[in-house]
Amino acid sequence: MAVIKEKSVLAALLKRMYWIEAEMEQLGTWEARIQFMGENIEALEKLSHDSDKHWNILQKWLLIADIPIPMTAPPGLPAKIFDFNGMPPERIFHEIMKYEILARDAYVDILNADSAVIEDLFPDEINRKEFIQDIKGLIKDEEEHRKICVKQSGGLKIIKTR
Ligand SMILES: [Fe+2]
Repeated sequence: MAVIKEKSVLAALLKRMYWIEAEMEQLGTWEARIQFMGENIEALEKLSHDSDKHWNILQKWLLIADIPIPMTAPPGLPAKIFDFNGMPPERIFHEIMKYEILARDAYVDILNADSAVIEDLFPDEINRKEFIQDIKGLIKDEEEHRKICVKQSGGLKIIKTR
């Protein structure tokens, strides 16, 4: 994996993740469509609530780094990420899983960014340490989300786990 060595690249990645988490947060509204399965609702709520939390964390760091909060989809992302229309719950969780993996790997990339780049974005040492702690927390959550999706997607073959 190529290490992020430019501030603009790190900033762009943070913006994309902000957008993805904001979209993920909408998952909660899909509850109604799969209410016939109680365990699915609980899993979806967990993913949705965590994304809500993540979205807030990213917003905080974008503000601190003086990066404009995206109002529309950042380059490279569709305006609307999910369309679950007519999909059975297993397929829905399989689709969500792709983004949980993407999110986990993106946060790993952010954590592994060149320390000079992180320092450039967060010159204050206390901020920087807190940022790193937050990113570590995000990685842990996303890995947990991936596992939830694996479980809920049941028999569906997994396309990529790493
Ligand atoms: Fe997630």
